[in-house]
Amino acid sequence: MSELWVEKHRPRSVTEMRGQRAVVDRLRKYAEVGTFPHLMFAGPPGTGKTTAALALTHDVFGDSHRQNLLEMNASDERKLESIRTKVKRFARTAPLGGSTFKVIFLDEADSLIHEAQGALRRIMEKYSETCRFILSCNYSSRIIEPIQSRCAVFRFRPLSDEQSLAQIVAVAKSEGVKLEDDAAAAIVHVSLGDLRKAITALQVAAAMDNHVTRDLVYETSATAPPEVLQAYLLACREDGFQPARRRLREILDDFGLAGTDFVNQLHGELHSMEFLTGPTRLDLTELMAEIDFRLVEGGGEMLQLDAMTARICSSIGA
Ligand SMILES: Nc1ncnc2c1ncn2[C@@H]1O[C@H](COP(=O)(O)OP(=O)(O)O)[C@@H](O)[C@H]1O
Ligand SMILES: [Mg+2]
Repeated sequence: MSELWVEKHRPRSVTEMRGQRAVVDRLRKYAEVGTFPHLMFAGPPGTGKTTAALALTHDVFGDSHRQNLLEMNASDERKLESIRTKVKRFARTAPLGGSTFKVIFLDEADSLIHEAQGALRRIMEKYSETCRFILSCNYSSRIIEPIQSRCAVFRFRPLSDEQSLAQIVAVAKSEGVKLEDDAAAAIVHVSLGDLRKAITALQVAAAMDNHVTRDLVYETSATAPPEVLQAYLLACREDGFQPARRRLREILDDFGLAGTDFVNQLHGELHSMEFLTGPTRLDLTELMAEIDFRLVEGGGEMLQLDAMTARICSSIGA
């Protein structure tokens, strides 16, 4: 894997982005007039926040966009001091290509603690004549109000299945990958609206075999397919604790899952298990939330998973 496909196939212009219609329409207007206010991009991973920041600067500055852009990651730059120093150095030189401002992209701004955000706000003010800030974060609620109120806020949504599928198929075609239809659907299924995850899953699978099948996708993406999770629940219902427990262990081995992966994937499939009644699904959801919490808090993995299996067996067992 010499080159990462996520980078290679990153849209260069905002007009090439998939989905995010509301965002893209507004950003195109900025590109047309050639200027924009401070921006905040909020949303889950792999939905195009970094892509949009790079594409917008490209659309506004054309060929000189690299020189007019400073990219920083707030979680790398632990101390705000290093952010301050870099901004200062960057803001000292004039923008290239006839522009009146330069752009500072600060990724993962919500990883900064509140005091650091206060200092960031002062930096934004000090350099706002010559620089526009684009902040990206997973949750806008983790950004202090005085920063939010200085930015135009954009919300990025998980990509729809159709949008993810279209991008996966396009990347596969351009890379000469033979991608089966149900394999493409499996990639969409495992990636949950996260295009970084989707394209990475495609590249990882294609590195094993250029003919990408559904099985290969599940094997290489640490995700158990729906029918395997269903078989575990059926074992809980029909066969009882010991067989169900054995099956769970096989699944963890076969697909390389951690306990929390299993619980979350099982939860993701609950709605498609037609043999469960509505109230049972609710009970199981509560149970999984509890087990997930205990696992995250450090409860012993096998013990917690056995406890879950035992409770599922008594809830839906014959
Ligand atoms: N809306 C989108 N349209 C097309 N490709 C996208 C989109 N969102 C993400 N991608 C792909 O996924 C990769 C990661 O996206 P990125 O913008 O870095 O996500 P994040 O929201 O985490 O910043 C990009 O390099 C690109 O290949
Ligand atoms: Mg990003």
